[in-house]
Amino acid sequence: MPRKIAAGNWKMNGLRGDLATLKTLANAHGDAGVDILICPPATLISACADLPFQIGGQDCHAEASGAHTGDISAQMLADAGATAVITGHSERRADHGETDAIVAAKSMAAYAAGLVAVICIGETLTEREAGTTLDVIDGQLAGSVPDGATASNTVIAYEPVWAIGTGKVPTLDQIAEVHAHIRARLTARFADGAAFSLLYGGSVKGSNAADIFGVPHVDGALVGGASLKADDFSPIITALQNA
Ligand code: 13P
Repeated sequence: MPRKIAAGNWKMNGLRGDLATLKTLANAHGDAGVDILICPPATLISACADLPFQIGGQDCHAEASGAHTGDISAQMLADAGATAVITGHSERRADHGETDAIVAAKSMAAYAAGLVAVICIGETLTEREAGTTLDVIDGQLAGSVPDGATASNTVIAYEPVWAIGTGKVPTLDQIAEVHAHIRARLTARFADGAAFSLLYGGSVKGSNAADIFGVPHVDGALVGGASLKADDFSPIITALQNA
């Protein structure tokens, strides 16, 4: 069975003073029965180490060390207390020109450091309107997910680019179609493909989480904006517990 995961991606938000949010969440959900993964900015990872959550980075370099000013290696994230790292987020693909091959290399670096790679895929609005969503997903799965992926070291996050931070959410049927497609591709390629956790991401809120978690093959969410405040993230965790 895939693990249920409520993941929060803080993106480039969060100062030390914001850690109070996580203490509030820990009091409410310390023993949630689902996995809670918080991905704060790298500057806060070590400060999160004592919390009863899994902590993740938002990106890593493909190499373990070297002359790459400003970059962070997977090994460094692990050393700071992370157990996971997001790779291939659409903001990295768009802002930093990350290709599927780069995302695969970063995911392999995550495995080498003992981190779970949360590999993000998803179509743009243009691609959806052109009817090529499933082809895009196929290309990203083939190119971004390494052959060494297993249900233990990899989580797949389906994040339609047009739903991120826009308040626009695909219909439940659209989410169901893509998640069933991802599951079928993983099962065909990997012996334990049925056990990979598949997260939906893009404008998840307390008000739509229960419906989204009711969709087959949705094992949790990767949440941006609504993960920044305990009052917003807490109902999403509760919805996952009840799903
Ligand atoms: P929002 O929840 O703010 O739409 O962001 C989703 C996301 O990009 C998570 O990685």
